[in-house]
Amino acid sequence: MTAEPVGAGIEEVLEKIGEGVPEGRLPAYVYNDQRIFDLEQDRVFLKAWCFLAHETEIPKNGDYVTRYIGNNNIIVARDEKGEIHASFNMCRHRGNMMCKSEMGNASHFRCSYHGWVYKNSGELIGVPYMKEGYEGRLKRKDWGLLPVRTETYAGLVFGTLDPDAEPLTDYLGDFTFYLDFFLKQGNAGSEVHGPPDHWITETDWKIAAENFAGDGYHTPVAHQFGFNLGYFPSSGSTHSQGWAASIPGKGHGIGLGHSPNFPPFAGFPDEVVASMKEAWTDEQIEVFSQVRTGVGTVFPNLSFLMQPFSLVPGEAGVRFTTMRLYHPIGPGKTEMYSWCLVPKDAPQEYKDEAYRCYTLAFAQAGTFEQDDLENWARVTRSAKSSIVRDRGVQFPYIMGMESEPDPEFAGPGHVVTPYVNDTNFRNLWSRWSDYLTGKAWSK
Ligand code: FES
Ligand SMILES: [Fe+2]
Repeated sequence: MTAEPVGAGIEEVLEKIGEGVPEGRLPAYVYNDQRIFDLEQDRVFLKAWCFLAHETEIPKNGDYVTRYIGNNNIIVARDEKGEIHASFNMCRHRGNMMCKSEMGNASHFRCSYHGWVYKNSGELIGVPYMKEGYEGRLKRKDWGLLPVRTETYAGLVFGTLDPDAEPLTDYLGDFTFYLDFFLKQGNAGSEVHGPPDHWITETDWKIAAENFAGDGYHTPVAHQFGFNLGYFPSSGSTHSQGWAASIPGKGHGIGLGHSPNFPPFAGFPDEVVASMKEAWTDEQIEVFSQVRTGVGTVFPNLSFLMQPFSLVPGEAGVRFTTMRLYHPIGPGKTEMYSWCLVPKDAPQEYKDEAYRCYTLAFAQAGTFEQDDLENWARVTRSAKSSIVRDRGVQFPYIMGMESEPDPEFAGPGHVVTPYVNDTNFRNLWSRWSDYLTGKAWSK
């Protein structure tokens, strides 16, 4: 092993990291490194499609939320005609932040510095002293809020800062097959159950993105209490069963955990199951009926998880779904966003029960969340240690190197079994490396 200082010769270093990933090697320092963080801002978050909001967070005209793509604060608003716009949250006059709230309802935003006024669609419509000050030299139409390109899939609004980025459907590719597990839970689709919980953690966004790309390996250890106390219907001996599915070249991946005695669609009310079966294809029904836990990541930093959980140990419990965003705010520092998703046409009683299970397991106070973050924070701290660079410490990503795709499986992508596997992670890190080296976006 040799040390790989991320200083001089960065392009060469990045190439080397990229070459190591398919062979199952990744340098530990990339989990916490200022230079890597800075490059990610320019080469990943300025180029990829990034999640902004779920349409059901802004159901009424005038509703808005503010979110981030990389280090850029973005207003996502539904205008007075019901259309969704994303705009860079910076006044064009001298750069003040226009909207200071995280969510609300407004037809206009008025700058608190010199008073320029914009419609929620981003159009500049008011400038104090327009006549006397600018004497006809300022054209309002040239000074609207900077627009951000958006596209949606199944209620998810994504934005990209790259005008040349491929269409969102190409970016997601065949991963939409698996996304429907979380987003098309019935004919009416899924909706958020309340605003997201969000908080700052001492971990790197990539550790979370990798974990949710299907790390079934950690579950029986890190979340052992769930098995032992009977909150979670799986066991250490069967937990590796299932599939790891990834979309080669795209970076997206999902782990599909299977429990031999877990009845198809257990934990959903009958009417929700009937509605889901109408919304899904035959292949999706075949795949999803075998899944106890689905946990996946859309590259770069959006994840989903659906699992059964019981408020009463030993009882069957219900299924809940969480959607999560890992917003990087520094090397080894992430702002986590966590939502509960529910089927829109489900009975309210089920929605509330699913939300209770979700809050017990995930979001800031959730038990599973705390198990994960305690480990991720220590991983992040270790990655910064001088010995990591001095000895060129690498991690082994070598599980399932020889795995052949499962020919029986009805879903798309590269699908291997068992569920406990590094295949999805090699795919994720390869995509990350392709963005850092520019292979994913340079012409
Ligand atoms: S900075 Fe917004 S009006 Fe001057
Ligand atoms: Fe976990």
